[in-house]
Amino acid sequence: MSFDLSVIPNKNIIVGITGGIAAYKSAILVRRLKDAGFNVRVVMTEGAQAFITPLTFQALSGNPVHTQLLDPEAEAGMGHIELARWADLVLIAPASCDTLAKFAAGLADDLLSTLYLATSAPVWVAPAMNQQMWAAKATQRNLATLVDDGVHVIMPESGSQACGDVGLGRMPEPEELARQVTDYFHKAQRAIAEKFGLLASKHVVITAGPTREAIDPVRYISNHSTGKMGFALAAACYAAGAKVTLIAGPVSLDTPNGVRRINVSSAVQMLDTSMQLLDEGCDVFIATAAVADYRVAEVAEHKIKKSGDELNIALIKNPDIVATIAQQDKRPFMVGFAAETRNVEEYAAGKLVAKKLDMIACNDVSRADIGFASDENAMTVFFAESYHLPKRDLEKASKQEIAQQLVEAIHDALHHDPAQDEAF
Ligand code: C5P
Repeated sequence: MSFDLSVIPNKNIIVGITGGIAAYKSAILVRRLKDAGFNVRVVMTEGAQAFITPLTFQALSGNPVHTQLLDPEAEAGMGHIELARWADLVLIAPASCDTLAKFAAGLADDLLSTLYLATSAPVWVAPAMNQQMWAAKATQRNLATLVDDGVHVIMPESGSQACGDVGLGRMPEPEELARQVTDYFHKAQRAIAEKFGLLASKHVVITAGPTREAIDPVRYISNHSTGKMGFALAAACYAAGAKVTLIAGPVSLDTPNGVRRINVSSAVQMLDTSMQLLDEGCDVFIATAAVADYRVAEVAEHKIKKSGDELNIALIKNPDIVATIAQQDKRPFMVGFAAETRNVEEYAAGKLVAKKLDMIACNDVSRADIGFASDENAMTVFFAESYHLPKRDLEKASKQEIAQQLVEAIHDALHHDPAQDEAF
């Protein structure tokens, strides 16, 4: 089981809007929730419609707006009970004093208060009101009742208010509300992935990007690796429930959500960091980095001046990181990559054995449409002979999809029992 944590798939949010000037912020809130991948349906009280029109929310949510409890036409579309069941979360923003009071008292005299009673989804309220109304004993009493009833209260912020007062009562910015909703679902998904994901309870270490080998204080040797495959794998492993550490060479990519990133520059630094992480306990080691094969024998202390027509720089071989880790006593499940321009499968199979890997993913970098800087890839995966697993061809797809299939291949190898093969 795996989850894409960048988008929340198929989660349904009801945004309840009540009568308050902060209702204008709810337009942005609905927009942000849609951007994050949620399905949004809007319920407006009569008071809300005095501030902003249902048409605005219909356009932003892409769904008809629900305003009436006893409207036969609306009930024929999605009745209030169906709507209450549809929701994975009900967010009332802004929540007026009046709505809080209705919820606390258990009244059901309009659509929103009826929904509140009829839903089993979590209910969040973001109160927004004049600071004196917020401080009123009745409001605080109602809030205490709602908290007691399991409602999550997003506290108002302090600041200048539309009415001219200064104090507590401002609704947090819509971006902040959308972030909290997204976080809530991410955490819930993560908890499931940590229990049931393909790589649950595994620590995965991934090397990614190029290495940079210094010539002098201002120059270096490097390559065109962008690190995209390694970063996509880090995201896929995290989504599969693993704890992920990404050892990244110099690349300009954002760290995937939930992933621990350690930046390194040279191959020697990448190896040192890998060895340290091995001591921490590592179950799967994935080497996607395009490690420079050679480094400068003696890095100049000062900038090399141009003098003669020729400049010779002696290079020495860099350590092979993946092969070194594979030789350790506490070796994790080892995954390597091979980028070749010819005899792709033959060379890859050779590397699998030579570097003592458990699995290797190889691709043909002579193809202009895949590989290095491309967003797509196509690969063939080989497993070490002891696994008795046939090779797998991964058709051309986005690096995210390829990463997902590689996670499945790793899972299958980790759980493959060769003794089972012999039984047949
Ligand atoms: O030998 P070659 O560079 O083709 O092998 C590629 C595989 O070995 C990749 O998984 C790469 O990350 C890893 N490698 C390494 N350290 C090196 C060279 C390659 O870990 N010095």
